[in-house]
Amino acid sequence: MKYLKCSRISLYILTLVSFVAANRIKDMLYMPISGVAACFRRHNGTHQFGCSSSKSGSIGVIHIVENEGDVQWLETNSTAGPYTIVLSFNMFNMEILKRFKNSNNVNGVLLTDSTRNSEHPSSYSPDDSCPNRYSGSKLCDKPWNPYGSSILLEDWPFPMFYMKDEEALSKIKLCYLKYNAHNREKQAERSLCALEMKSFMFAALNSESCIRRSTYSINFNPDVFCDPLGDRNIHWPVGPMNDDVKSVIMVIAKLDANSLYEKLVPGAGSTVTGLVTLLATAIYLHYLNATVSDKNIVFSLLNGESLDYIGSSRLVYDLKQENFRALGGKLLKLDQINSVIELGQLGKGPLYLHTNNFNADDAMLSNLQSKLSAKLLENSNPPASVQSFLKENSSLPVIVIANHGTEFVNKYYNSLLDDLEGLGYSSNSSLKDLTLSLSRVAATLAEELYSVVTGTSGPPQPNHRFVEDLIAELLPCYLTSALCSLFSAASPPGTKLPDQLLPMYVSVARSDNPVTTLTGQLLALLTGEPQPELGAAACSERHLLWMAGLNASGVCINATANYSAAVSPAFVIDDYDMKSGVYSTWTESVWQSLGMRMLLKPSAATERFSLILGSVVASVSFILVWFVTSRADVLFNTG
Ligand SMILES: *[C@@H]1O[C@H](CO)[C@@H](O)[C@H](O)[C@H]1NC(C)=O
Ligand SMILES: *[C@@H]1O[C@H](CO)[C@@H](O)[C@H](O)[C@H]1NC(C)=O
Ligand SMILES: *[C@@H]1O[C@H](CO)[C@@H](O)[C@H](O)[C@H]1NC(C)=O
Ligand SMILES: *[C@@H]1O[C@H](CO)[C@@H](O)[C@H](O)[C@H]1NC(C)=O
Ligand SMILES: *[C@@H]1O[C@H](CO)[C@@H](O)[C@H](O)[C@H]1NC(C)=O
Ligand SMILES: *[C@@H]1O[C@H](CO)[C@@H](O)[C@H](O)[C@H]1NC(C)=O
Ligand SMILES: *[C@@H]1O[C@H](CO)[C@@H](O)[C@H](O)[C@H]1NC(C)=O
Ligand SMILES: *[C@@H]1O[C@H](CO)[C@@H](O)[C@H](O)[C@H]1NC(C)=O
Repeated sequence: MKYLKCSRISLYILTLVSFVAANRIKDMLYMPISGVAACFRRHNGTHQFGCSSSKSGSIGVIHIVENEGDVQWLETNSTAGPYTIVLSFNMFNMEILKRFKNSNNVNGVLLTDSTRNSEHPSSYSPDDSCPNRYSGSKLCDKPWNPYGSSILLEDWPFPMFYMKDEEALSKIKLCYLKYNAHNREKQAERSLCALEMKSFMFAALNSESCIRRSTYSINFNPDVFCDPLGDRNIHWPVGPMNDDVKSVIMVIAKLDANSLYEKLVPGAGSTVTGLVTLLATAIYLHYLNATVSDKNIVFSLLNGESLDYIGSSRLVYDLKQENFRALGGKLLKLDQINSVIELGQLGKGPLYLHTNNFNADDAMLSNLQSKLSAKLLENSNPPASVQSFLKENSSLPVIVIANHGTEFVNKYYNSLLDDLEGLGYSSNSSLKDLTLSLSRVAATLAEELYSVVTGTSGPPQPNHRFVEDLIAELLPCYLTSALCSLFSAASPPGTKLPDQLLPMYVSVARSDNPVTTLTGQLLALLTGEPQPELGAAACSERHLLWMAGLNASGVCINATANYSAAVSPAFVIDDYDMKSGVYSTWTESVWQSLGMRMLLKPSAATERFSLILGSVVASVSFILVWFVTSRADVLFNTG
């Protein structure tokens, strides 16, 4: 009886203690925050860029920064660091991020886009003011991208995430107001609301050391720390490449864009406008039945151009090595290239022709200039793929057709805001004027090229309506959602396309980019030879392409469109000197998980108390269990 009483009391105490402890633990429970995108780490041959958390995740007390005073407070008056900064675009710039870095008191930065009507800030471009500064044919003498902050080209000592979720943001703000915002000079004495960011990157230092440390072979568990960036270029010759073809005009555009955060790479103004115009030019020339004799035209979409011209430098390297056989297996040599025309950033508004080595009285050039009412800028070298060609042959005639003169008009170059809204449209507004601007370029260029290769004054039956309809169908695939009729037609029957924008980031070379595949298939479908007599099995037997087709019933295509590798020569040449800066050396770090969660971080004193309390509870229960088991017969007999 005595024993029972005693154990009843201790049971009661134990329950009380557990209740108190459980309340604390519940308070401290983690609240995962989904729908975030992380900044990750990249390297070139000599440097490290981007962000990484610590291995177990970086925890920081939430500090919402809305104005200069909040930054100063962090620098001079804060006591409970390290902090995780929560801010929006108006405070997200190089100067303020540098101050966070120098404060040594920041463990993370969360960029939020809270504007309900999703109005973009007046400008935001994390790329350099001279994109691809070190890989052009000449030094960059004036900033092409005046909005460029170079945030992309910095090694940040803390993780950075982006979030566009009104609900999660208000939870973070609520927690901040409840625990952190009041009585700020005494923050260190109490529990505080904190964010944990997990984005640990395995690679460090530079591409050279991380590639050397990566072992792909031998053991089953390869240690890969980073991967070269790259994908595939897409090519299509207007006429067959045969022995009659003496020279080639190349029409090129880039296929990739960039941004600070993974997955969020829309590239609308940076890339899509030029890419769609190139596709439309090619398909229209095919529609016009242009026949070539000794002069051919090759359309090429080049990948990885945002990262020191990966695709174009590889193309030029292959041409120079006499190793470029993507056009029907026939060798194309560098000296066969007569000129290069690049479709750069395009859109509404006036057009500019940036030329090098072109005679101002060249017929094609002056026709383009007058028909597009474009301004001619001679010896102008915007950061574009033609730079790779000029690097190899500085007397090659090149034109870049763009919507900018000496400075980009795109205020969101290579950023997550370079989307439909960034182009000046709302998500459901009509793209009619953009369609008309792009189709004017595509139709004019195609008809000009038609007369150059056929030696006639132009196509007998021009059809600008065809081009407009085509562009009106192409644009939504790249600007609104990949779930569009053209991408469906260009996929194998029954393919489930995602109802979202496909990222335009080149990503690592060992995985194929969906946007490259869909674009390549689409070009193949619309320029290839349908083989109506072949079914699915016979089609794949002949190594032709089986796709849904425009009426979704399945069609076999014999295409001349083809891919070539867009991996930098730096990773192809044996013993390449990664420090030389001749070719792109970009690699991306491997990571395991990316995520963010909110928690209540106890004060230092509470943490000590919890530890003691925990130990006491554990000891008491241990003794109690031992006591109850050892006296079980007595206890339960008397009960
Ligand atoms: C890597 O980037 C840094 C900074 O942009 C630059 O100074 C350096 O020359 C680059 N290195 C190589 C090998 O391209
Ligand atoms: C920092 O603390 C000092 C002294 O308590 C105070 O005068 C100052 O206003 C504080 N600064 C900020 C940015 O809060
Ligand atoms: C191109 O050729 C096809 C078949 O030869 C013909 O049906 C079509 O009308 C031609 N297109 C044009 C624009 O001449
Ligand atoms: C595609 O390119 C490869 C070389 O990369 C070449 O062997 C093949 O013949 C090409 N196919 C076509 C249809 O041009
Ligand atoms: C450079 O291009 C020009 C124009 O196509 C050509 O005449 C010249 O031979 C080329 N130079 C070299 C070194 O290939
Ligand atoms: C877009 O559509 C939504 C409803 O789908 C409508 O509420 C909104 O006003 C539209 N915006 C514009 C600019 O048309
Ligand atoms: C689909 O188009 C092909 C030609 O591309 C045609 O032969 C076939 O009859 C069409 N099928 C349907 C159901 O319209
Ligand atoms: C595909 O087209 C090419 C010519 O462009 C031709 O040489 C080849 O035989 C065709 N392949 C098949 C399977 O029809």
